Amino acid sequence: MASREGSSGLAESPQAPVRERVLLDKGWRFMKYASKEEADGLIYDVRPEIKDHEDGRPADAKPTEAVAVESDKSVLKPWILPTANDFIKDPAKRFRRPSGNPGGDFPFVQTGFDDSAWQAVRLPHDWAIEGPFMAGEDAAVGGGMGRLPSPGVAWYRNKFDIPASDAGKSIFLDIDGAMSYAMVWLNGHLVGGWPYGYASWRLDITPFVVPGGENQLAIRVDNPPASSRWYPGGGLYRNVWLTKTHPVHIGQWGTRITTPQVSEAAARVDLAVSIDNDSDKDAAVTASTEIYVLDAEGRKSGEVVARFAPLHAALAAGESAELESTVTVENPRLWGPPPTQAPNRYVAVTTLEQDGRTLDRYETRFGIRELRFDAERGVFVNGERIYLQGANQHHDLGALGAAFNVRAAERQLEMLREMGANAIRIAHNPPAPELLELTDRMGFLVVNEIYDVWERKKTPLDFHLIFPDWHEPDLRAFIRRDRNHPSVIMWSVGNEVGEQYTDESGAAVAQRLHEIAKEEDPTRPTAAAMNYAKPHMPLPGVMDTISLNYQGEGIRDAPAYAGLKGIRTAPLYPAFHEAFPDKLIFSSENAAAVSSRGEYLFPVTGEISAPVKDGAGGDPQSGQVSAYELYTTPFGSSADKVFASLEKHPYVGGGFVWSGWDYLGEPTPYYSSRSSYFGVIDLAGFRKDRFYLYQSHWRPDLPMAHILPHWNWPERVGQVTPVHVFTSGDEAELFLNDESLGRKKKGKHEYRLRWDQVKYQPGELKVVAYKDGEVWATDQVHTAGAPARLDAEADRPVIRADGRDLAFVTVKVVDEAGRLAPRADSELRFTIEGPGELVATDNGDPTSMVSFASAERPAFNGLGLAIVRAKAGQAGEIKLTVSAEGLQDAVIDIAAEG
Ligand code: GAL
Repeated sequence: MASREGSSGLAESPQAPVRERVLLDKGWRFMKYASKEEADGLIYDVRPEIKDHEDGRPADAKPTEAVAVESDKSVLKPWILPTANDFIKDPAKRFRRPSGNPGGDFPFVQTGFDDSAWQAVRLPHDWAIEGPFMAGEDAAVGGGMGRLPSPGVAWYRNKFDIPASDAGKSIFLDIDGAMSYAMVWLNGHLVGGWPYGYASWRLDITPFVVPGGENQLAIRVDNPPASSRWYPGGGLYRNVWLTKTHPVHIGQWGTRITTPQVSEAAARVDLAVSIDNDSDKDAAVTASTEIYVLDAEGRKSGEVVARFAPLHAALAAGESAELESTVTVENPRLWGPPPTQAPNRYVAVTTLEQDGRTLDRYETRFGIRELRFDAERGVFVNGERIYLQGANQHHDLGALGAAFNVRAAERQLEMLREMGANAIRIAHNPPAPELLELTDRMGFLVVNEIYDVWERKKTPLDFHLIFPDWHEPDLRAFIRRDRNHPSVIMWSVGNEVGEQYTDESGAAVAQRLHEIAKEEDPTRPTAAAMNYAKPHMPLPGVMDTISLNYQGEGIRDAPAYAGLKGIRTAPLYPAFHEAFPDKLIFSSENAAAVSSRGEYLFPVTGEISAPVKDGAGGDPQSGQVSAYELYTTPFGSSADKVFASLEKHPYVGGGFVWSGWDYLGEPTPYYSSRSSYFGVIDLAGFRKDRFYLYQSHWRPDLPMAHILPHWNWPERVGQVTPVHVFTSGDEAELFLNDESLGRKKKGKHEYRLRWDQVKYQPGELKVVAYKDGEVWATDQVHTAGAPARLDAEADRPVIRADGRDLAFVTVKVVDEAGRLAPRADSELRFTIEGPGELVATDNGDPTSMVSFASAERPAFNGLGLAIVRAKAGQAGEIKLTVSAEGLQDAVIDIAAEG
């Protein structure tokens, strides 16, 4: 079953473009084998055998060696590899499909197979997110991969009708991402597949389609254990489309638009269009392209802004051609990041005609902007220096898992923007295509990154297994898909790869990837993030930029880190700058600070940055890390230390905090947990105190002050309880119960004000912040009384009844006066009435093993989250009731609009 999007149903009219894009979201059936032993033998390839329980170890533990074993399974790789052919440059290296149809007799691929007992699912679908979480030391999936059942083999089946009128068309299956090793059969024929779970790819299903009837699709997905350093999700977790075209059509990702000359008066826009003649006749075609303005919502608007001269091509049967053209856009509305610029966009509409008959129409969204990367001054967009205030973002969406949802991703970006971020680095794999539509629309700069590993593994069954066959097609496909996005400013081809350690041979791999990237897109610089490579080594010289993880601000380079073992470096910005005076340096990862929202542990270090240790910033019993926002991984630095380091090295173009949001997996320092502590924002989307530290620094013009900790410490009366303040002011005075605790001023390279000797008394803490001697902002915290009731607030009171849009409802446990009860862990129960569904709940607690699907969960430090979806096509009022024993309910109405 399918829903239609874009132009559709126009095939009957000879003048209408035949391109049709159909979303295959409904009607899927799903089955996952209970164990590896039970799974069928239709494997992509023989994999090294690994010991059980291998992935739960901390990231820096030594990987267990994997050993290859013999297998009697059917290896289908020779039939899958040809799917990559369009992305392999050297024709001699392309793959020939062997004869035969392996798996063709397997029951699940048969049209007649009865799948009614399989689970009905809707895409995007992440099979693992509902759990159950696997707790304990011996869990099959440990903390590293999020303690969720992402490994395993599963099948998806769906039927779709292809009308008889589609006979003669080209029909493609477009998969935005399938986790992982996907292999596809249509009507019992093995079509192809793609192993890398984050890649987007296309299958030409034309030869196997039966027009005038039902067609049976079967997709096998196989997620290896120990294949990732974080939670990968599982299954068809992004959109799947059917694309129908005339056999003579614009190719997959078949346009390339660049803007080589940009000024306020005029911009040159270059266009390349590739056309495939998949018919058995020669074709003489004309491609005409017109440019229109896109409005803020991404709709084509107004009159034609510019027209490219029509392009003509004579294509022999089976031939493809690329045509190029140039046009000038007068007074262009440039794309650039807010707040100083606006993310204006255009759309190029290309019409392909033969003898006056329209064969295809294809839209390319783009932006006109000029990028410059300056080794002394950083990144320039349209001539303006834009200092990178960035955040690293993983692919998951917290309680929604890997299943992509536009609104959930938009909410992540909105909160990062509120914090002052203007850039994100995609860590460390291709994002959902819709994410880049959001960054284009919202005006974020994006470092788009493809790989976490090359040939040298980080976990036993990760991408290194397929790197030899797939690095080229994956990289070319990634760049072709994303090259028209104005938000993408750079291609990062790797993160902290093991090839940093292998001198010339590692640099040769880097060189190859760099060259592929430049062939696909000469307009953007390359990067490969380095946490180890030093200026004198061969690898750093390969890429266009110097992308440093942690090395810039120095590793284990502050007094509190003195006793630690491991790599130790002084701040390396100067050494890299000296060795590469012409290359932009940026901090692709910095901080790696850790905290649990709302948890404060005592005593508090007097340092400005300190490694978290059991009993010093971390509590191994509770699995929580102090939110004084001073504690870091052994190799990390607090935000304060990072800010200072960047300010001391002004030629550095800025950087990206690890990480913007918490994510599933990698729960350093407590691998008994399920999700990370790195985020400035927790997994549920609640701001940690650190959020305000970043905001104070990144938005200096926003009057704000923020006090921590909360002020509910009945067990600490009379004890030293430090109070820290984050403010965009330069000075502040703190009061406890109206008594001044002193006025303090930020020194050079100081970013917080701290009153470390405050003795706790209940009551009110108040801060008055000043800027240039004038009152600038205030904040206060009161000791809350006993929890009395629940408060609920939705991020948006009205959502679309399209079965996708979401409301994120924050629930607070409050006292009689409405003050947050900051330590409350009341058991919350969520019930829904009306045309909505409770999709997931969360509270941001990294240690929680309560399924995200649960309608009951405790508050964590006073807060809980419900994610509510409106049912498709059912407008009305959705009523969410939240209750907890002994507390007054919260009831909230969310309007679902058709
Ligand atoms: C970096 C790595 C990230 C993440 C981070 C925090 O070394 O690139 O993916 O693991 O450390 O541990």
